Amino acid sequence: MSDKKFYLTTPIYYVNARPHIGHAYTTIVADVLARRHRLLGDDTFFLTGTDEHGQKIERSAAAAGIAPQQFADGVSKSFEDLWQRMGMTNNAYIRTTSEKHKRGVQKLFAELYERGFIYLASYTGQYCVSDEAFVDVAPGEPCPDCGRITETLTEENFFFKLSEFGERIAALIESNELSITPDSRRNEVLSFVKGGLKDLSISRSSFTWGIPVPEPAASAAAQKHVIYVWLDALANYMTAIGYGSDDPAEQAKFEKYWPADLHLVGKEIIRFHCVYWPAFLLAAGLPLPKAVTAHGWLLFEESKMSKSKGNIVRTETILDAFGDEVYGKQFPDSTKGERDLFASDVLRYFLLREIPFGQDGSFSFDALITRYNADLANGYGNLVSRTLSMIQKYLHGEVCRTGPVVTKFVFPIGANLLADPSVQLETTNLGKVAATVMSYVAALDGHISSKAPWKLAAQDGSESRQDLEEILYQAAESIRIITALLYPILPFATAKVWKQLGFEKSIEQAAADCELNNLEWGGLKPGTKLGPLGPIFPRADKGLAQIMTDMENPAPEQTSTTHPAAPPRTTSIDAPSSTLTVGGSTAHTTGPDNTPSHKEATPSAPFDTTASQAPITAGPTDASPQITIDDFARVELRVAQVLVAERIPKADKLLRLEVDLGHEKRQILSGIAEWYTPEELIGRRIVVITNLAPRKMRGLESHGMLLAASNGEGGKPVLATFGEDIALGSRLK
Ligand code: MSP
Repeated sequence: MSDKKFYLTTPIYYVNARPHIGHAYTTIVADVLARRHRLLGDDTFFLTGTDEHGQKIERSAAAAGIAPQQFADGVSKSFEDLWQRMGMTNNAYIRTTSEKHKRGVQKLFAELYERGFIYLASYTGQYCVSDEAFVDVAPGEPCPDCGRITETLTEENFFFKLSEFGERIAALIESNELSITPDSRRNEVLSFVKGGLKDLSISRSSFTWGIPVPEPAASAAAQKHVIYVWLDALANYMTAIGYGSDDPAEQAKFEKYWPADLHLVGKEIIRFHCVYWPAFLLAAGLPLPKAVTAHGWLLFEESKMSKSKGNIVRTETILDAFGDEVYGKQFPDSTKGERDLFASDVLRYFLLREIPFGQDGSFSFDALITRYNADLANGYGNLVSRTLSMIQKYLHGEVCRTGPVVTKFVFPIGANLLADPSVQLETTNLGKVAATVMSYVAALDGHISSKAPWKLAAQDGSESRQDLEEILYQAAESIRIITALLYPILPFATAKVWKQLGFEKSIEQAAADCELNNLEWGGLKPGTKLGPLGPIFPRADKGLAQIMTDMENPAPEQTSTTHPAAPPRTTSIDAPSSTLTVGGSTAHTTGPDNTPSHKEATPSAPFDTTASQAPITAGPTDASPQITIDDFARVELRVAQVLVAERIPKADKLLRLEVDLGHEKRQILSGIAEWYTPEELIGRRIVVITNLAPRKMRGLESHGMLLAASNGEGGKPVLATFGEDIALGSRLK
């Protein structure tokens, strides 16, 4: 046991979207590090959870037609359930709507207020709801970070005196008291801080889904305020371990674990963690986290996987496909839990091996299968099974060494393994460990082949018998070391190998007893009887990629509507949204008989020059397959008013619209510039399809489509509108 503690965190995930493999990536990396620190004997505390307040969640809940708390409960549970399926070893799961969290956040706010770092003022500026951040742009300009539409806010706000902390934060970063990795992120933060910090608005009064500003600040304000969602969210790292609690046991926990040793985050939220968070803590007189490490993004088709872009891959798809199709077929009697853990190992390995830590990396099902087969099925798995089956066959299943010990360390890993930094799972070399260990696997495979134990087994004589024992001992002992190294990455598979090697104590227990940290040669004792043998990594068929693609793009009649937060996936990951058309003779429909695969998808509306979100046509209906009322109900049509309409430079056919849907405003791009001038659109009440996956064009995102009918093939589209008064946001049904 070491006398160190190690407290590490993931970001808490927003509940506006169900989990995808981008979220799983961060949680996997954290779990790998947590397992590694536990086996080093560190008193490790690993935290994850969900971020449930703010305007974004309030609006998502309103769009789903349910109360924000109910909405948050559903999505938060889907994250928690997924981490459980994957065998994550988080010690706590924090929800920002929990009472203990709210109490802690109010305590922190009150502390900052009493210490004189918070004041009341009026704010007018642009706010990006998607990022939940105030941005320094002119009205009408998009958010500089995500490119989405910004909203003008004029509010009485509480402000935090961020401007007072720039120099101290820069000094802490430069001295590495606050370590930021990789260097590119550290430089980014330093240049932001040195550019001068402005005071930060830390409350909102125009909506209510948040933690109320506590007394005495609350009474000083004319309106009711809720605490800014990032102050609320960042505080989770302390509230989860007892900050703000009256319970002495919780207080002791806080004393023990705070400050955090590592905040693991995606690169887009580095500023919140390395500028705002340290400033809040300095102001409150609390110790700062020791390190923040930012990883890159998982990309799907070249852009960041995210719900708003609609290009996500769900982790459940991989668990179900690899679990059922690969593991389940090999082991028909296995439980769902075992299949999940096997598949979770596959994803863990792939993400660590394939994504250079800190950089962006692409994901594809083909790459997942290729890497799995190459490294795990044909590599590590094959090495284990050929070695152990030779011991079984030639040595009656017993690791023996009857002759003189020829050499202590013939194995290509080399005697310098203990000192080899490239196998130590640290944040600085996370991506490299899997690759290094696989190079050992390949070297060992070559070593075994060159010694040809099967030839030795065919020879008579005690010398060849001793050589045979020696080479198989070397191989098995090397597998023990490789298995110990891989345990944090592949906890399920290595547990099986460990058993097959004949250890009575489980690998988890060996890790807890700090035995996996023993990489000294000789840990596998001669005389050890192997456990029952069996395949570890059954080969995955290439066809699995198609199975996973189909699971991601279910036919409409198979779409799940289990929770309002998970609208049915009406478009495939990369299908142009324009393929969703209603009743057009040339159009694809969403009906069960005519579901376009994303490969077939082609723009269909005659004026859909952008191959994207042009108006929907209502052309002749004779060729259209029938749809059910449920099919129709999947298309969400709502009344909207055009607030802004403008041409887009270098895009003759596109207009950029901002529309008001009553409870929210959206940006929509439409290919109607040939037929409508911006001026004649402003103020009109139109019909918008609101549940289409967003689509990016000319660097701008379109969040919906207008409804129109065209006058004949290629004729002018006429926008659907209303002859009577109708409230914005009303649903057409
Ligand atoms: N709620 C805030 C974080 C508050 S922390 C006090 C938030 N939530 S989020 O749901 O948007 O999750 C962001 C994190 O999820 C990223 O920082 C990253 O860790 C992970 N990822 C989400 N999408 C990802 C990719 N496409 N690729 C890699 N990681 C991704 O921001």
